[in-house]
Amino acid sequence: MATVALDPDTTALESALACTQWRTARRLAASEARACVFTLDRAGHLLEGIEEVADPDAARRDTLDAFFAHCPAARLAALAEAATSISDGRCATLPLQGSAATLGQAFALRVEAHGRRVFLVALHAPDAGGGRANWSASWITLLGATLDVLLQRTFDLAAYDTLVEEQRAIIDHIGDGLMVIGQGHVLRHVNSVAGRILGIDPKTSIGKTLNEVIDFEPIVGPIYRTGVGYVDRELIIDSPARHLHLLDTAIPIKNRCGEVVSVVNTFREMRRVRKMAGRYAGNHARFTFDSVVGTSAGTRRALDAAKKAARGASNVLLSGESGVGKEVFAQAIHNASSRSAQPFIAINCAALPHALIESELFGHAPGAFTGAARDGRPGKFESADGGTVFLDEISELPIDVQAKLLRVLQEREVTRIGDTRGIPVDVRIVCASNRDLASMAREKTFREDLYYRCNVIEIDIPPLRERREDIPVLAAFFLERYCTRMHKPTPALTEHALKQLAAYDWPGNVRELENLVEKIVNFDDGERIEDVSSFLRGATRAQPADDAVHVAHRAAPVSLMEAERQAIENALEACRYNVTNCAKLLAVSKPALYAKMKRHGIRLERSIRHKI
Ligand SMILES: Nc1ncnc2c1ncn2[C@@H]1O[C@H](COP(=O)(O)OP(=O)(O)OP(=O)(O)O)[C@@H](O)[C@H]1O
Ligand SMILES: [Mg+2]
Repeated sequence: MATVALDPDTTALESALACTQWRTARRLAASEARACVFTLDRAGHLLEGIEEVADPDAARRDTLDAFFAHCPAARLAALAEAATSISDGRCATLPLQGSAATLGQAFALRVEAHGRRVFLVALHAPDAGGGRANWSASWITLLGATLDVLLQRTFDLAAYDTLVEEQRAIIDHIGDGLMVIGQGHVLRHVNSVAGRILGIDPKTSIGKTLNEVIDFEPIVGPIYRTGVGYVDRELIIDSPARHLHLLDTAIPIKNRCGEVVSVVNTFREMRRVRKMAGRYAGNHARFTFDSVVGTSAGTRRALDAAKKAARGASNVLLSGESGVGKEVFAQAIHNASSRSAQPFIAINCAALPHALIESELFGHAPGAFTGAARDGRPGKFESADGGTVFLDEISELPIDVQAKLLRVLQEREVTRIGDTRGIPVDVRIVCASNRDLASMAREKTFREDLYYRCNVIEIDIPPLRERREDIPVLAAFFLERYCTRMHKPTPALTEHALKQLAAYDWPGNVRELENLVEKIVNFDDGERIEDVSSFLRGATRAQPADDAVHVAHRAAPVSLMEAERQAIENALEACRYNVTNCAKLLAVSKPALYAKMKRHGIRLERSIRHKI
């Protein structure tokens, strides 16, 4: 017979039929029935070698060759397909024609497994008589049952092997640590990530019990008894050999009787969880050194110092009046540092209520205090691990929290409220203050040791009135920004207007200038900006208390909510956006003021309404 290129299915079938048991059974059937018994696939490929089919009789080989010369195997397969479809797969006589019919009589049986169809064919001499034909049909039917079991088993095993390989690939390639723990805590699978996290060798660990490979009490133990797993449980493990901080999930696998036979345990490092959470929570800095606008000597000096600070790892203190750009610099330092891919978390120490500040910064253990989250919560320092924490208005940090902060900076680990275990954190601190921390330290209203810790590098950002050269550059920059945002053509600032800006004192610094430009863009539609005095007068409103009250009185009747909003906006403007003074003016606490500002959508860096 001609050699043909076999398709993969044929190869699979051939190897399935190569087993000794099948060969023996087929030979026995062939000799008992005095027939040639062989198997064909649907395309007519002979699945056993012709030598083997003819074995042990050489004369049979000649008969077979002559038969296939008149009825090729492909034709035989087509006849078998048609005949067995009428007989519903059972043994059927094949309608041979012409010379083929004179050479032999053929029976076929159809067998299928996993979508592969084969035909079992018995061919015997035509002179065998009716009795012999029945004899062949019985043997082939019996042999068909064997073939059925053989193919089913072979392909079941192949499918099982594929499944095992797929599972192994999944286990090894997911980003989480994964272990399958059988009864008696025996490790059945350990992937490479689990090996790395736990510091164990996956290969040598499989087959051992959990207790043999780790030096802490496994928490999956009770699951075998209770049948209840858990999802995303936070684990902090401090054993002699390892410190682990994980998010852990354990799912029981039960047998048909409902007994737990194994536990699938997946876990990921908290550091990775935080990184992912930070990416989506927006814990990133947007300003870079390129965002810092200004050409004055003061700005250049501050920029040079900040760039140097960015290259190192020391803590930085940014000092300067409100609105000079301390947060802009803090973000730029982070973005230019080696930590730029890690979180940048800004905390306004003045905005946090005293009672919550500690848990906000350092987190708390499960149920540490009334109202605390049941599962415990990481603090900002933990969330910023690897990155930068920006402590804005650090002067407002309560003295007891200052002591804790100092400990975190010295020991480089945080201890959550209600917990005793320290969690290592690697953060760089950038602080900002618009109050004189040095004199506060002298007066003992700010811890001196903390002051020195934070103030390794001090960068002083001068007020805008001391770097007037920046005013036209900043004004042009903000004009362009707000006109683009409002889809307006950018007007030119006349010489006169620029002089007015230059002569003004800018108590609210760059923020005030930015707000003023935003107002102008909102209210001025001309091609040139000639006179900004009306806007300046609005912003200079020097004596806050009385004016704020008067504005409220003069205004048309409004709702209480609106009156509150107006009062806050007026007070902020009057206090040049200094929240501490504004809170005093409004006779509310700073946290309460921040809460109200949040409720009214008032943002410090945005323009407040323009008073006409
Ligand atoms: N050099 C600068 N270039 C561009 N924009 C600046 C610059 N300085 C400040 N700004 C802008 O001014 C606004 C106020 O800056 P920032 O919030 O950094 O001030 P701050 O010193 O932190 O003020 P506060 O003490 O009130 O928190 C920001 O919205 C920022 O866009
Ligand atoms: Mg700030």
